Amino acid sequence: MSERRVAPVAHVDGAVTVPGDKSISHRALLLGAVARGRSYVGNCSPAADVESTMRCLRDCGAWVRPFGRGRVVLDGSGPGESLRAPADVLDCGNSGTTMRLLTGVLAGHDIAATLDGDASLRGRPMERVAEPLRAMGADVVTSAGGTAPLRVTGRRELRAVDWTTPVASAQVKSAILLAALNADRATTVTEPHPTRDHTERLLRMCGIAVHVEGTRVTGLPGTPAPFGFHVPGDISAAAFFLALGAARRGWRMRCASVGLNPGRTGIIDVLRAMGAAVDVEAGEAAGGVEPQGDVEVRGTALRAVIVAGALTVRCIDEIPVICVLATQAEGTTEIRDAGELRRKESDRIAGIAAGLRALGARCEVSADGIAVSGPTPLRATALDSLGDHRLAMAWGVAAALSGPEGSPLPIQGAEAAAVSYPGFFDELDRVASGAG
Ligand code: S3P
Repeated sequence: MSERRVAPVAHVDGAVTVPGDKSISHRALLLGAVARGRSYVGNCSPAADVESTMRCLRDCGAWVRPFGRGRVVLDGSGPGESLRAPADVLDCGNSGTTMRLLTGVLAGHDIAATLDGDASLRGRPMERVAEPLRAMGADVVTSAGGTAPLRVTGRRELRAVDWTTPVASAQVKSAILLAALNADRATTVTEPHPTRDHTERLLRMCGIAVHVEGTRVTGLPGTPAPFGFHVPGDISAAAFFLALGAARRGWRMRCASVGLNPGRTGIIDVLRAMGAAVDVEAGEAAGGVEPQGDVEVRGTALRAVIVAGALTVRCIDEIPVICVLATQAEGTTEIRDAGELRRKESDRIAGIAAGLRALGARCEVSADGIAVSGPTPLRATALDSLGDHRLAMAWGVAAALSGPEGSPLPIQGAEAAAVSYPGFFDELDRVASGAG
């Protein structure tokens, strides 16, 4: 486990170019692998999670060639035709998206595969995708407790379902929509709140009809057309720097060409509600389907915010850094309806609370939320990522905010950041040095 020391930052005024979006990269690779013909992906995320998807696809015989600097070429033969039975267990690493979405793709192939992952992934719920895929005709067997390793035996021809999922999860919805490519007719998923719709947008880009009526999403069967697609920057990676820039009056941070999918922009709404000025300059949509643009934040004396319901879903991955920012805001910030945080790469509610308390911040947790009161000066302490990439980066921001003077804070397990953002801590050092 590696430790990284992050010093308090005196002033922030800079720009950061974040890597390609992780969520979108997974989907572009999966769709490129099953489209019929040659597809080109640019600015693919360098995240370890996305490498897991690429490795698993290759282990299933998919034609996937990285050409450096985020360029990937894929050649597929259509859903149900592109993948072969892997010789070995598929290693999804730390990536829930890889495991859940790939299970959906494999469900539509006449092959069997076992998917496994690291200790964190082995603790995460998989029945939420296994159940609907079983209803569609695939055989999916999870381990005791409904977790990985899981074995999927797919069928080239699946049954359409009209599925209502009790959890707002884009991964569940996406697994079903990807399997739906091989269904006998239109398949519908209803979710409690709308989640990120990258799969729907990329399917449409590939000529597959997807209809949306409120929280009901209907996907049609078909063969995706090959595509060329440039992945926008990852707003969930940008969020750490935007939060940092928002923290103090006179600070400023700019992130160019980041994805602005409405299912992901909750962080912008939260920063504005906390009083920060956020300017968004929309650019041309990536592939004509994924909104993107430049985001600039100017910091201020922040006020507390309530994050609940649909907004929680729209910033679910940003809650750790929002909680760090809440320590600097006047009043009590409440994060509600966030029980899913306990089922992420770690129990994030417990992990955030432990870190914030070590920093001297005041917080209270419940089963599905956390309340953070501020403003509180953050004191020097050792912080632990618990192997969770988003906690590692949130602690990086906390350390940067523990100043203006003082000693660097050690972050244990900082290497976890590479799961979504290799190079995050170097970029943070650059911003802190004023070179940003
Ligand atoms: C993701 C969906 C979310 C999110 C995860 C990525 C995706 O998970 O937390 O980081 O790419 O679909 P859930 O679908 O489990 O909510």
